Amino acid sequence: MDTIATRIKALVAELNTHNYNYYVLDNPSISDYEFDMKLRELQDLEEAYPQYRQPDSPTLRVGGGITKRFAHVRHERPMLSLGNTYSEEEIAAFDSRVCAALGVSEVDYVCELKFDGISVSLLYENGLLVRAATRGDGVQGDDITANVRTIRSIPLKIKGENVPSPLEVRGEVLMPHEAFRRLNEEKAEAGDTLFANPRNATGGSLKMQDSSEVARRSLDAFLYFLNTPMETVDTQMGSIEQLRQWHFKVGEYARLCHGMPEVYDFIRIWDTKRRELPFDIDGIVSKVNRLEYQEQLGSTAKSPRWAIAYKFKAERVLTDLLSVSYQVGRTGVVTPVANLRPVSLAGTTVKRATLHNADIIANLDLHEGDAVYVEKGGEIIPKIVGVDAASRKEDSRPVRFVTHCPACGTPLVRSGEEAAFYCPDRHHCPPQLKGRIEHFISRKAMNIESLGEGKVDVLLKEGLVSRPADLYTLTYDQLLGLETTYLSNDKERVVSFREKTVQNILDGIAKSREVPFERVLYALGIRYVGETSAKKIARHFRSLSAIEQASAEELTAVEDVGAVMAESIVRYFEDAENIQNLYLLSQQGLHFEMEETAASVSEALQGKSFVVSGSFGTPQRRKELEQMVEQYGGKLLGAVSAKVDYVVAGENMGPAKREKAQQLGIPLLTEAEFVAMTQA
Ligand code: IVH
Repeated sequence: MDTIATRIKALVAELNTHNYNYYVLDNPSISDYEFDMKLRELQDLEEAYPQYRQPDSPTLRVGGGITKRFAHVRHERPMLSLGNTYSEEEIAAFDSRVCAALGVSEVDYVCELKFDGISVSLLYENGLLVRAATRGDGVQGDDITANVRTIRSIPLKIKGENVPSPLEVRGEVLMPHEAFRRLNEEKAEAGDTLFANPRNATGGSLKMQDSSEVARRSLDAFLYFLNTPMETVDTQMGSIEQLRQWHFKVGEYARLCHGMPEVYDFIRIWDTKRRELPFDIDGIVSKVNRLEYQEQLGSTAKSPRWAIAYKFKAERVLTDLLSVSYQVGRTGVVTPVANLRPVSLAGTTVKRATLHNADIIANLDLHEGDAVYVEKGGEIIPKIVGVDAASRKEDSRPVRFVTHCPACGTPLVRSGEEAAFYCPDRHHCPPQLKGRIEHFISRKAMNIESLGEGKVDVLLKEGLVSRPADLYTLTYDQLLGLETTYLSNDKERVVSFREKTVQNILDGIAKSREVPFERVLYALGIRYVGETSAKKIARHFRSLSAIEQASAEELTAVEDVGAVMAESIVRYFEDAENIQNLYLLSQQGLHFEMEETAASVSEALQGKSFVVSGSFGTPQRRKELEQMVEQYGGKLLGAVSAKVDYVVAGENMGPAKREKAQQLGIPLLTEAEFVAMTQA
């Protein structure tokens, strides 16, 4: 046993070092493959010997817990914000105030990047990360520990001498550009609304209920503030160095500046160099270096008097609005896009800008032919931030949002709280139908790859398909000889439906009949039901008819399903055309029920850990009980510890175990009580 504990500890230490090298130092020390192999070994060992699980195990970073509601936490000291400045004069005025208050002629400042993310407070006890919280209103924030644990550059355990306990560290969580691009790409594919910028994406991610989803989003964090006084640290630069030594990611950006000219230099350098960073910054922060001075200066109710932010001006140009066009997405939402006279901005040529929705057009008071200010701040998509009303021609008319769908002519509607107008003809509006079919055949849904590369377009154009079920009645003769063109790397390619292509298509469609129920449910494209939710709903209800009969309230009982999603599911089943399509799909033999396997049959024991101990008549029965724990979503542990919620106690349970369970206040269940629990 000892050798197993030793092996687990060694793997944890080794993998944590590799993680640090990769995510903090940006200097990988092992191949991804080797890392995964070791991680898998650790996972297997932890599963078999849960009693040796380490609190800083890298396996904790994959997430898994669901938080239905975030608990509020009060900050030890309020999380303040910073005063903003936009010019060197304002910075100089700040410096004068600082020097006057301290009665000195010059002070040293530490200049840092102002990371454009979401600020967090991390609390460590005995070196272990025990709590992470958002800033909230500054006094009280949300407990987002489960989500923050998935950020690989944040240490789960601090190693080293003299780590104070408790220790509070503050910093900024952000989403690097590459991760942001990937996330929005996925969202676009799923027909979801995109995040406007990495900062919003970070905020949205940190508030997600499913931490395993957060783990996939590649968030990162820079720490800049040590909120626990230490005798050995008497400057801000010293704090940063201490944080670095404890393996926090602090970056190589902070600079000690003697006097204002060096502060201005720092600002000028980063105003340009920020474009090379793989993440967004929205300015720089200048902080009085000596902590003793900081203390003397103190804070106002809102912000410290010893620090100031200098915000970069977003780059802005004036150009002409040529026209507004409207795009219809998969879900029918109509998005206005401004077509602009091409203009160069922050290194690229801008021809179009998103207007998001009708409210934005109204708020800008946008008129046809207006001269408009276009800005590219941290955001990747340029936006119109204002109009030059003075240069407007007298007879120019206001831009009016279209009243009818630009694709099918149906009058648009606007639902209560949403800013968006959408086309209600879900079933026949061409872009919506196309989107629905493309979603249906996509890899994570029915996975009919043979229909990729523009083939869906021609099926729609020829009128061969007007709902997903039609795919299953396509015939060889209908398809042979069709032709379509599609764009690949900006080049037009022609695809002809010859014998082999047609056979591939038909085989791909036929094979999709084997796709399991949970993916079929996802493929239906019910609004808001993503891949993960579909899985959970399928596992909970086990059949499409059970989902159809469920009320919104019953639907929200499923982990991850909120009121909006539940409502959308209920409405889906109220639509006669959906029902007809489902009927036809079921006739085609698609899986509308879960296959009964040893996999989990319900979530009755979700989130609870069990130990099964003693004998239950036959050894088989004990095995069965152990399997039931997992089938009903519980966790089976090997030994009695504080992590165990219940012990299922048979006859002859060891007295030591019984005593330990009693000491820890863990309830003992009889076999019958346990079985009753699974039926709850
Ligand atoms: S110091 C007591 N340093 O900017 C002051 N803040 O507007 C603590 N921020 O809420 C803030 N980078 O979210 C500080 N290097 C940095 C920062 C930084 C980004 C954010 C932080 C804060 C906001 C203030």
